[in-house]
Amino acid sequence: MNQYSLADAMTDKGNLTVPKLSESNMGFGVLGVFLGLLLEVSTHGPHAVPRTSWKQQDLDLMEFSEPGIFNYSTLLLNEERDALYVGAREAIFELSKKNVTIRNKKVLWRVSEQPMAMCTLKGKSKERDCLNYIRVLQVVDDERLYVCGTHAFQPQCDYLNLGEFSLEGQPEDGRGKCSFDPSQSFTTVMVDGELYSGTAYNFLGSEPIISRYSPPHSLLRTEYSTSWLNEPSFVFADVIREGKNKADGEDDKIYYFFTEVSVEYEFFGKLLIPRVARVCKGDLGGQRTLQKKWTSFLKAKLVCSMPELSFVFNVVHDVFILKGSDWSDTVFYGVFTSQWGNVGLSAVCAYHMTTVEEVFSKGKYMQKATVEQSHTKWVRYNGITPSPRPGACINNLMRQQNISSSLHLPDKTLQFVKDHPLLEDPVLPIGNRPRLITKDVNYTQIVVERVQALDKNIYDVIFTGTDKGVLHKSVLFEGEVHIVEEIQLLRNSEPIKNLLLSPETQSLYAGSDSGVVQSPTAFCSKYSSCDDCILARDPYCAWDPKDAACVNILNSSSQQFRRLIQSLNGDADRCPSVSAVSQKDYQRVTVRLGSSADLPCLINSNLAHVMWKSNGSLLTEASRFHFIAENGLLIYSVAPEDQGYYECWSVEWAPAAGKNFSRLLAGYILSLDLPPRPPPQASPVATTLGNQETSGTHAVEGNLKTDRVLLTSASFTAAVVLTSPPQTDLSLTPPPSSTIKFQPKQYLPPNSVVPHPDSQDPSAEYLQHNNSMALLFLFLLFFLLFLAAMVYNCHMQYLPAPCLRLRAALLGSHKSAHQPEYRACEAGLMEASAMDKINMTEQPMQNGSQTTQNLRALRDTGYETEPECGNGQVPSHSFGGDSPSQEKPFDVDCDSQSIQFADADEPCC
Ligand SMILES: *[C@@H]1O[C@H](CO)[C@@H](O)[C@H](O)[C@H]1NC(C)=O
Ligand SMILES: *[C@@H]1O[C@H](CO)[C@@H](O)[C@H](O)[C@H]1NC(C)=O
Ligand SMILES: *[C@@H]1O[C@H](CO)[C@@H](O)[C@H](O)[C@H]1NC(C)=O
Ligand SMILES: *[C@@H]1O[C@H](CO)[C@@H](O)[C@H](O)[C@H]1NC(C)=O
Ligand SMILES: *[C@@H]1O[C@H](CO)[C@@H](O)[C@H](O)[C@H]1NC(C)=O
Repeated sequence: MNQYSLADAMTDKGNLTVPKLSESNMGFGVLGVFLGLLLEVSTHGPHAVPRTSWKQQDLDLMEFSEPGIFNYSTLLLNEERDALYVGAREAIFELSKKNVTIRNKKVLWRVSEQPMAMCTLKGKSKERDCLNYIRVLQVVDDERLYVCGTHAFQPQCDYLNLGEFSLEGQPEDGRGKCSFDPSQSFTTVMVDGELYSGTAYNFLGSEPIISRYSPPHSLLRTEYSTSWLNEPSFVFADVIREGKNKADGEDDKIYYFFTEVSVEYEFFGKLLIPRVARVCKGDLGGQRTLQKKWTSFLKAKLVCSMPELSFVFNVVHDVFILKGSDWSDTVFYGVFTSQWGNVGLSAVCAYHMTTVEEVFSKGKYMQKATVEQSHTKWVRYNGITPSPRPGACINNLMRQQNISSSLHLPDKTLQFVKDHPLLEDPVLPIGNRPRLITKDVNYTQIVVERVQALDKNIYDVIFTGTDKGVLHKSVLFEGEVHIVEEIQLLRNSEPIKNLLLSPETQSLYAGSDSGVVQSPTAFCSKYSSCDDCILARDPYCAWDPKDAACVNILNSSSQQFRRLIQSLNGDADRCPSVSAVSQKDYQRVTVRLGSSADLPCLINSNLAHVMWKSNGSLLTEASRFHFIAENGLLIYSVAPEDQGYYECWSVEWAPAAGKNFSRLLAGYILSLDLPPRPPPQASPVATTLGNQETSGTHAVEGNLKTDRVLLTSASFTAAVVLTSPPQTDLSLTPPPSSTIKFQPKQYLPPNSVVPHPDSQDPSAEYLQHNNSMALLFLFLLFFLLFLAAMVYNCHMQYLPAPCLRLRAALLGSHKSAHQPEYRACEAGLMEASAMDKINMTEQPMQNGSQTTQNLRALRDTGYETEPECGNGQVPSHSFGGDSPSQEKPFDVDCDSQSIQFADADEPCC
């Protein structure tokens, strides 16, 4: 194993055999997968581009925040009361669900002196940690909410009376219901008046727990053992009810989703694994074995990977359950990234609940096996499983055997489930692959809505929130994903912490550290033409030919419904043909000889290419002094032959329709207003005034943008100089008129303020324009010469160190600007070399834990109390660290966890 060469894996990718995730011995496989294929994934992997990008200022989103209050991360929708409840730091709000800018009620919940003092004494920050972060908001009944806050690292819960909007003031212990640490992962769900939580049970955050709080009983919880929960990051929990046809008397189940450190795979450092776990609602714990512990806790691995590239997304960030009428119709969606965040890929996988149920009810168990004294491995359990099946909920079959509750389960079954909570079989996604893979984003949140389109098909519209405050809206059409739009929801680039959907108000609610934002689920009216409306391929939107508007189908009347046009494959040919715009109606643009013309043309689709035609033939940048920019065409130094018709076309490729759609976005007639021949200094004012009238806004715009135009033209010509010398003469020779008027005195540096055209003699401006251009060329030429000389000297190492540093910086920035994909690979390679070093020097964990330190942010602290505390760190065993006391890794761990664990007395530290 130690002789395995990474270099082999990298160079000989074809022979790299990639073990399936279900194979238990996959340490190196995973390594190969992550390192060898990073480049391939980031360059060739499938990924989608959002068609439309909306900025915050493009949209009229409703926002809520109050000065001095932060961390609006807990949201609860209450359909009956038409309210959105928001839990923030030290405050709870009731907002109007229809308009979150309307705040109906507010209550503050602060931490008193004494707990605050305790908290600061333990080394926590008074301004950050020792405040009360509201993390639980759950409906108890019509009148009350159950609320919990971190309360200066002493979690407390209370009842909130909705009528008066006040706390009852008799706080209960919140341990096991709410996290101590406001930044620690956490999940909770209220089911029939019982609170289910996934959190940490202690101050250190090192004792994870999945618990149920049901007032008359004491907490029912998980066993404290790494085989049950190993440094989990909880993301979501919800109940799945059996529904009406529970013929076999099955129980309702609560599912938990989290990422934890794997025990079953060998890996350098910690390998994260996404999990789904479940408990039965009727579980009461065992009689002797597993007293006050779950008897039905089982967990399995969630798989979200690209099989053809063997790329594994192993961190789950959020889950949304799309409940059907029956549990078996239920589908859930998860957002995943890779543990190696720098790969920059996010994925969405969907799963059938039946698949999960199948794994839990029929899957093989895994068992811990001790190999070669110290090396603990997890392997498939092949022995006989006791009956009733360990971890199963109580059903009619068991009741027939006089087992009517978990208290009656035989010890053999209980002991087995205590030791074997993990199932071997993985939960595979629908279609065995992600529904969606996106590059350069980190998804943090997901909600999904089912929409019936006009074609009568039902589409799952996926809304994903990112760590940069952006929302993506995607739809799956015939197996291909299409990202309809990307919306900048939050003003700042900060993570979306919570995302809720209300079909009733057709709104999404996003919570972040700085506020709450409400956004409609669709922006149909933003699409102004039929082509645009259809090409958007938004299941919510359709074109109404009568009103000539793009409308939301959910809001349209049945009468309107019949005439609506929608085509989710983006076949814009179904649009009614519009009468062609006559060339006579094109906008007239008149400019002076040698000045520049700016012909604006905005395309709002990221999937479209812009195409400019002049006099009916295709324009290319190379053809003349044209610059096709993002928002228009720039013609600098307009010459007489530039006059004519200009058309801006958008060519959009609609893959599902298999067609290109071209449409005319703008048309211009460019004409020259020839200035009087020299010497014209006398007074061209009259004509210019006339020009300004005819040329309208564009000529003025062109003048105002003079300095930008110059810069662009200069840099463009400079590029030409380097590549094709013949054109140089052309570009360096100014038009005849300006040669005559060459007057260096009037040169203005490009960055100087260009006076307002009205306040200046137009001819003077004209002169200045051309002179500065010539000067700029000269300057550029010298600069290039100077640069060449410097580069040469630098290259020959004639110049001292600063030059070399500059060289390094230049090369470095060049790389990062053009090859973002390789950065991911580089980081991977760095890991690879670090891993190699581990092999060489036999100091595994010291290096390993350094290289994986950034991953640590994803997780909370490790186990220190259990004898099996090395499980998450299998390699430390496999490299000969037999006795835990000799193992450096734990020293490193404790160091990195600083003061907050100062009072740890666990044996491992
Ligand atoms: C709370 O919000 C502040 C301000 O945005 C942020 O710096 C901090 O990290 C947040 N804390 C948590 C626990 O989310
Ligand atoms: C269940 O209990 C009933 C009455 O207590 C008894 O008659 C029956 O034999 C028991 N059945 C089994 C399978 O133990
Ligand atoms: C995604 O998150 C990782 C880890 O937090 C970070 O390194 C990376 O830059 C993020 N990528 C993007 C595209 O935001
Ligand atoms: C367009 O046609 C006109 C007249 O036929 C001609 O003068 C002009 O140079 C042409 N312009 C371009 C850009 O081809
Ligand atoms: C569609 O347009 C693009 C860009 O103009 C072009 O590369 C592609 O070949 C066109 N495809 C078809 C089928 O016309």
